[in-house]
Amino acid sequence: MDFQLTEEQEALVRMVREFAEREVRPVAAENDRKARFPADLVRRMGELGLMGIEVDVEYGGSGLDPVSYVLAMEEVSAACASTGVIMSVNNSLVCDPLVKFATPEQKARFLAPLASGEKLGCFMLSEPEAGTDAAAQRTTAVRDGDHYVVNGTKNWITNGPQADVGILFTMTDRSKGHKGITAFIVDMHAPGVRRGPKDDKLGIRASHTCQIFFEDHRVPVSQRLGSEGEGFKVAMATLDCGRIGIAAQALGIARAAFEAAASYACDRKTFGKPIIEHQAVAFMLADMETQIEAARLLTLRAALEKAAGVRHTKASSMAKLMASEVANRVAKNAVQIHGGNGYVTEYPVERYYRDAKITEIYEGTSEVQRIVIAANLLRA
Ligand code: CAA
Repeated sequence: MDFQLTEEQEALVRMVREFAEREVRPVAAENDRKARFPADLVRRMGELGLMGIEVDVEYGGSGLDPVSYVLAMEEVSAACASTGVIMSVNNSLVCDPLVKFATPEQKARFLAPLASGEKLGCFMLSEPEAGTDAAAQRTTAVRDGDHYVVNGTKNWITNGPQADVGILFTMTDRSKGHKGITAFIVDMHAPGVRRGPKDDKLGIRASHTCQIFFEDHRVPVSQRLGSEGEGFKVAMATLDCGRIGIAAQALGIARAAFEAAASYACDRKTFGKPIIEHQAVAFMLADMETQIEAARLLTLRAALEKAAGVRHTKASSMAKLMASEVANRVAKNAVQIHGGNGYVTEYPVERYYRDAKITEIYEGTSEVQRIVIAANLLRA
């Protein structure tokens, strides 16, 4: 494994860090407090080529590799985890399945505006009764001539309130279980697509989620993504990529929490010396940095497997499991090191603590990651 970044990757890190520090971090706390969607930042990320990092230049993307995606996600998420997930959903849950499964006509129509940031995407798999058990889809798509008629409800859809385009999963043949699931590309402004009010959340409050209701929505056959019955494979292959993005988001949160805690520990004095000179605090910080580095290596490894074009299901789940659990431990200890100051909004660590939690839940809970890792133990 090569630990050396290329010159292009180093330049990308410098560019994204400057953007994140100058434009994202200063508004992160207020956007969180007001649950305000950062529309300007999403537009800027489009201009900077961050909304379709791995998409070919020919389709409006930046044509970079999966390691670059991880590096950029960590930088943006260290400044604001909400902005990070808006970016990751567009990149890995919307652009990536289009790259892998769309026809050239579908790519020309849908991928190019998404990858350039002109349009925003969402991924509609979860339902009120199909979260962890993703195959238990109840939304139906019934063929009617050159259309399918879609009815059903999708839950917790990140970017749902703002999205222009969505990747939708439906049941086209209930008798076939997961082999009866079919994916579509949906125009979110078309008749029969209705958005519920935005959810009121514990963390990542500037990223909005909502329910999406399909009421006799007619989607043309030409917008089917893959063949009938191939939808579950589309969803799982997409999540293999998405979980790398969430691992990188968790790394960003963990790094921000660690840096805040280390800096606070140098300034804050108790018993006549900075608290970093008390071994209890120094050891906490030592563990935090070690665990972040371990999570980063697993995340980069998953990205390198993706870059090599090999199946990276297990590596992605390991990265997401490790990074999300590290982010939660690190954020919790960052609050602890801040003491009372960690519990008030004057300091950023309470936000990191709230933001970290979702990384253990979405794109598959930690329990799901363990199921996937266990199921793939014997796979080469
Ligand atoms: N790539 C390709 N195919 C895959 C695959 C992968 N990674 N994983 C599984 N498959 C295939 C299997 O080979 C199998 O195919 P065959 O029947 O042809 O052999 C088929 O899919 C079924 O596989 P399983 O038996 O393993 O499926 P399962 O029903 O037991 O489900 C699960 C397994 C891992 C629990 C899965 O349901 C899962 O991942 N659940 C979590 C769902 C999830 O992550 N949701 C996230 C929603 S999106 C989100 O959170 C976005 C956001 O807000 C930011």
